[in-house]
Amino acid sequence: MGPLVVANWKMNGSEQLLQAVVQEVGELAETTSATVVLALPAPYLALARGFDNTQLEWAGQNVHWLKSGAYTGEVSAEMLSEMGVGWCLVGHSERRQYCSETDELVLAKTNTCLELGIRPIVCVGENLRERQAGKALEVVSRQLLTVLNGVPTALAPLIVVAYEPVWAIGTGEEASPETAQEVHEAVKRAARSKIDGLELRVLYGGSVNADNAKALMRMPDVDGVLVGGASLQAHGFRRLCEQVAGSV
Ligand code: PGA
Repeated sequence: MGPLVVANWKMNGSEQLLQAVVQEVGELAETTSATVVLALPAPYLALARGFDNTQLEWAGQNVHWLKSGAYTGEVSAEMLSEMGVGWCLVGHSERRQYCSETDELVLAKTNTCLELGIRPIVCVGENLRERQAGKALEVVSRQLLTVLNGVPTALAPLIVVAYEPVWAIGTGEEASPETAQEVHEAVKRAARSKIDGLELRVLYGGSVNADNAKALMRMPDVDGVLVGGASLQAHGFRRLCEQVAGSV
C-alpha cells in the first residue's frame, strides 16, 4: 500500500484553488503509488464531483453523528456519500477545541462514517501542556482506545489515524521524525493489542511541508501525512506530494 497524503484546507480555499490543485496534483496521483485525498469545505466537495477524470480522492472535514434531522448547519454522512466522498476527518483538534468535541462524540462520528462506508481519519494528539507533563502517549492512547473500544471489530481496518500534536499545528514547529515515530509505533502497538491483527495506517500532521515531508516519511511507522497550510498553494503542494511519493 502506497503512502497517503491528505490535504486539510480547513476554512480556506476557493474554486480557483480547487482547479489549480486538481491540475497540479491530479495526474501525479495517477502515476505514483501515493493516494492523495483533499479534505475540503463542504461546498467545494459538491464541486469536486465535476472532476471525475482524476485519481484524487475527497474527504469531508467534519460530519454529524446522526443520519438526518433538525440540525441547522450540519452535514450528514449520507450527503457526503452521495457526493462521492470516500473519507472524512473526525476529531480534528480544532473541532475538539472550538466545538467541544469529546472522545465519545468522536467515536459516534466514526461509527456513523463506518456505517456509510466512509473511511474515518481519526485525529489524535496531545497539547503542549500534556507533552511537557510527559503525558503525550497517555492522551493519544485514551483518544484512540475510546474509538477502538466502540467500533465494530470487522470495520476497524477502515480507520486511518492521524497523529497531530496540537503544539505543531499551524505553528511551523513540526514534531521531529523520531518523536512522530515514537507515537506512531505506540498507536500501532495499542491497536494491535486491542484488536487482534489490526494494522492501522497512521499519518503524521502538524506543520508538514515540502521540506520536512521526506524525513518524516523515512520513519517506519509514518504511513503518510495530513497537511494544512502547505496544501493551500497548488505548486508547493505538488512538490510535497512528490516528496512523499518518492520516499517509498
Ligand atoms: P498545518 O495543519 O499543516 O497547517 O500545521 C495540519 C492540520 O491541522 O491538519
